[in-house]
Amino acid sequence: MSSSARKRTTDRKRDKAPASHALYENPRIYDLGFGFRDIPRECDGLLAIAARHGVKAPRRVVDIACGPAHHLREYSRRGLEALGVDVNAEMIAYARHLNRQAHLAVRLRKADMRRFRLPARVDIAQCLFDSFSHCMTDADAVATLRCAAAALRPGGIMILELTHPADYFERDEKRTVGRWIQRYDDVTVKTRFQTTAIDPVEETYVKSMVIDAAYRVGRETKRIVDRQLHRMWLRGGFRNVVALSGAFEIVGWYGDLTPRIPLSMRPASWRMVVALRRRNMRP
Ligand SMILES: C[S@@+](CC[C@H](N)C(=O)[O-])C[C@H]1O[C@@H](n2cnc3c(N)ncnc32)[C@H](O)[C@@H]1O
Repeated sequence: MSSSARKRTTDRKRDKAPASHALYENPRIYDLGFGFRDIPRECDGLLAIAARHGVKAPRRVVDIACGPAHHLREYSRRGLEALGVDVNAEMIAYARHLNRQAHLAVRLRKADMRRFRLPARVDIAQCLFDSFSHCMTDADAVATLRCAAAALRPGGIMILELTHPADYFERDEKRTVGRWIQRYDDVTVKTRFQTTAIDPVEETYVKSMVIDAAYRVGRETKRIVDRQLHRMWLRGGFRNVVALSGAFEIVGWYGDLTPRIPLSMRPASWRMVVALRRRNMRP
């Protein structure tokens, strides 16, 4: 087999990576397990990054692979128009349920990030919590970036939050913890999260997650086990797909969801956050 045929086979295999996951099909348990984030603070930081790169008074935001859409409800509370897309029907249904509970008009659409269109142009597009690493191939990434660019007004900002590169290579001093417990009134949720099967040749890894939800009364403990194959996005590969997309220029790298922490090997830099400006041209 020639090397290009082998590459096509690998790309096809990656394209067949399951779009559905036990984790996302149980969105409340996902949400409880990963419920440690300070959403208002993250939104402050995201808006500050956008402002630093020229988007100072945004009116409309899209969250790509929005999951439960907590950031979108926070934006909506602040008077922004908020839109979200996610490929998973259960996740969208759960996010809509949270919208109704909060009496907030967040517009959600079930769509693949590689193929979505929006009814109106946005000022900010965001893709958080490593959702972009579901883009397994360069073609997936370019398609996603082009959809985001088509959704953004010229000069609009896209912000992606990815795993810090050191977390793939440092065995003992990872920036993220592997086990934690979240306690709620009705349920205690224990999560075990591991980055496994790191393959620097294929640039892939597997997120292995086991979540146990133990309810106080009336329901049996629910266990979710999920193994997700992801693309390991490092700076060089990411720069390459941005260039291939023809739609963006990279304007900033940060180590957290705030413009105050640059991307570096310092411990405070624990994520890889990149800001892109949509070029003033058709993607
Ligand atoms: C780790 S969750 C993050 C959710 C959200 N961004 C957040 O910060 O909470 C990843 C999300 O990506 C969605 N997803 C995975 N592949 C997708 C695709 N091809 N298009 C759109 N959404 C996708 C999943 O359904 C899931 O809701």
